[in-house]
Amino acid sequence: MEVEAKQDHKNRATAKGEARCPGAPSTQDIIAADKVGAPGWVRSEAYQFLGDADIPTDRYIDPEYARREIQTLWRHTWQFACREEHIPEVGDYYVYDLGPYSFIVTRVGADDIRAYYNACLHRGTKLRASGTAGNACEFKCSFHGWSWNVDGSHKGATCHWDFPHVDPARFTLPQARVERLGGFVFINMDPQAPTLAEYLGAEAKAHIDAWKLENRYTYLHVSKRLPCNWKLAIEAFMEAYHVIETHPQVAVSNGDANSQYDVYGEHVNRFISPLGVLSPHLYGKHTEEDILKQFTLGDSGALGGSQRTLKDGGTARQVMADMFRGMFEQATNTDLSGVSDSELLDCFSYTVFPNTFLFPGISLPMVYRFRPDPRDHRKCLYEVMFLRPVPLDGQRPQPAEPIHLRDEQSFSEAEGMDPGFGNILDQDTDNLVLQQEGIEASAKRTLTLGNYQEIRVRHFEQAVDKYVGEG
Ligand code: FES
Ligand SMILES: [Fe+2]
Repeated sequence: MEVEAKQDHKNRATAKGEARCPGAPSTQDIIAADKVGAPGWVRSEAYQFLGDADIPTDRYIDPEYARREIQTLWRHTWQFACREEHIPEVGDYYVYDLGPYSFIVTRVGADDIRAYYNACLHRGTKLRASGTAGNACEFKCSFHGWSWNVDGSHKGATCHWDFPHVDPARFTLPQARVERLGGFVFINMDPQAPTLAEYLGAEAKAHIDAWKLENRYTYLHVSKRLPCNWKLAIEAFMEAYHVIETHPQVAVSNGDANSQYDVYGEHVNRFISPLGVLSPHLYGKHTEEDILKQFTLGDSGALGGSQRTLKDGGTARQVMADMFRGMFEQATNTDLSGVSDSELLDCFSYTVFPNTFLFPGISLPMVYRFRPDPRDHRKCLYEVMFLRPVPLDGQRPQPAEPIHLRDEQSFSEAEGMDPGFGNILDQDTDNLVLQQEGIEASAKRTLTLGNYQEIRVRHFEQAVDKYVGEG
C-alpha cells in the first residue's frame, strides 16, 4: 500500500512520458549488473511518448470497421505466412489464409519462394484447401482440371480447343510479394508497399537479425480460436502490467512493473521483462530464496522442477542464468557461451504489425500469430509456435504439425504443452472473453492507456489508425 501511495504521488508529479515504476531498478539497471553482459541492442532504449488520448472502441466491435480493415490494413501490410522449414523442398507448399484471402506459399527454388492467390483462373475454385500443406509437382484444380506448374506458369486447360481466347502466357497465377527474414516467410498483397526492410526500419530489423531465428525450428504448434477481436488478443500480450492481477503465480520471479517498453518506427515495438527478480508489487514480501523457489518449482515449468540454492551473497537471477546456460546447452546440444544472461533469461517480445508476435529469448522461445476470423469480427485465430535451436549437428527436425484446440479446450490439453504455461494462456483467454463483452456493454466508448506500460498498445493502434483511419 505504501509503495502504491508513493507511486501515485510521484506519477502526478512526472512530466508526460517520464512515468516509470518508482523505487525499483530499471530493466537496464538489472541487465547492467549481470555477469555475462548483453549486446547493444539489448542495452538500448527506444521509448517515445505518443500522446495520452483515449482509444475509441468501435474498432473492436463494429463489423463495418472489420470489413475496412481487410481492405485497408491486411491488404497492405507484411504478414508472417509460414516458416521456411514448412516448405524446405521445391514443390512444398503451405496454405496461408487471411480473412477472405488465401495463398499457396510454395518453394520454387532454393532461394525462390512465391505466394500465389489460391484460386483457379477458370471459375475460381481454390486450388488447395485451406489449412493444408504438402508437396506438389503441379497445382491442378479439382473442378475441371486446369493446372499450373509450381513456378505459377499455366500448364494446361482441359478441352483447350474451347478456350481460343485464353493465352497461357497471360494465365500465370497472380502473386503476392514474398520476403524472408529469420526463417519466417512474409507476404504482402500490395505491389506498392515498402520492402520488408523499409517496413521494419533498420534498427528493428537489426534486432530481429541478431536473434538468428533462422536457426530455430518449430517443435510445438498449437492453434485456437479466441472469443475476441484480433486486436484485443494481440494487445493482451504487449504489456506486463496485467501480470500481478492475472498471473499472480509467476509475479514472485517477474520484474513486471519495471519492464522496459520500446517503439521502433511505425510497425515494430518490444518489451523486455526481466526474470529472476522480484515484482516491485511484492517488495518486502519475498526473499531471493523465494524467487528461486518460485522459478524452479513454480508454474514456469522452464526448469523441469530442478532445485538449486543460493550461494552466499548470490542473487536468484544469477543462479538462474548460470543454470539456464548449462541446461539449455545440454537439452538442445547448442553452444550458448556467447549468449548474455539477459538473452538467456529475460522475456523479450517484439510485435511486427499486424500479425506477428515474436518471443525470441532462449528461455521462452515462441512466436504468436493472430488473424481475424473472417466469419466473425468478435473472434480471432491465435497460434503459438514454440521454437527451439536447431541442434549443433545441423540436422533440422521436422516442424511440428499444428494441434487445433476446440474453443472450450484448455491450452494445457495440447500434447507437449507445459501445464503451467497452458494455465497462463487460459488466464489470458478468460480475460479476453470478459474484455470483448465488456467493451460492448460499456457506457464508455474508449479505452484509457497507461503512458509507459501500455505504450505498445497505443503504438499498435496508431498503426491501425494509419491504415484504417480512426473510425
Ligand atoms: S474452376 Fe478450376 S478448372 Fe474450372
Ligand atoms: Fe498474460
